[in-house]
Amino acid sequence: MSMPKKLALLVLLLPLVAFEALAAKVSPSSLTMVPGQKSTVAVSSVSGSLTLTNSNAQVASAVLSGNKIQVTANAVGSANLSVKDKKGTVTVKVTVKPAMTVSPTSLTLAVNQKATLTISNPSGTIRVSNSDTSKVATSLSGSTITVTGKAAGTATLTIKDSLTTRKVPVQVTSSSGGPITGTTEGRLLASNCFQCHGTYGSGGFEKLLGETEAEIYEELVEYQEDPDFSTDIMAAHVQGYTDAQLRAIAKYLAKP
Ligand code: HEC
Repeated sequence: MSMPKKLALLVLLLPLVAFEALAAKVSPSSLTMVPGQKSTVAVSSVSGSLTLTNSNAQVASAVLSGNKIQVTANAVGSANLSVKDKKGTVTVKVTVKPAMTVSPTSLTLAVNQKATLTISNPSGTIRVSNSDTSKVATSLSGSTITVTGKAAGTATLTIKDSLTTRKVPVQVTSSSGGPITGTTEGRLLASNCFQCHGTYGSGGFEKLLGETEAEIYEELVEYQEDPDFSTDIMAAHVQGYTDAQLRAIAKYLAKP
């Protein structure tokens, strides 16, 4: 064979030889996981049969099924998965990191009150999403999220890094701190009672909070009608109200 012909043959054969020498391909060739997470590695360009060796089954378990390796992260650490076929060995590096945590795991805030959530072990970029920005405002700085109550209601904050998603429910209570919901019909009348029974009937001479509408109404009627109570301060107090007013007061105080 002439020199140029030999050269041409060599050039033709070289890529073939180079290709033939390659071991199987793995995708991805490395994994970063958190404990409990599962991933799959695809094996391609396989020659002959495959065998799998795992350097650390405590960190990750790996099961070969067909041309796929099912990997489950077990504990923080690293493991090498060696995939061997007829042509050679490729390695998948598995790194198991501690999962991101957010503390506390839920929040209750008053309107305009601020609280912070602390993120530990984040991987990559932290993203915060807020299900209701009319109820709660958030601002992320480093690994701290400042949460501010905006209006009474609830919102869910979803905090994600590259490996983990955490959800933090936030409840915003009305700013006064006291019970301001419920019927307002008897509110003005009932405010006459607060000087002796505490705000919203919370204490004083006799605590009224917790009593039902019927209980309060019946007691008031008793003070109005029962001669045994005629000298009682409550009897003197209730004389001024009509029956409709007593009902309105009882209705309000039962659910202030
Ligand atoms: C000047 C003070 C005073 C005011 C005002 C007052 N109370 Fe009373 N109330 C008392 C006292 C003292 C008692 C304790 C029992 C008694 O002396 O009869 C009492 C007892 C009661 C009781 C019975 C408590 C129980 O659980 O046995 C009820 C119900 C009650 N008050 C409702 C009211 C309501 C409703 C109002 C407003 C419309 C009101 N009171 C306004 C002083 C007051």
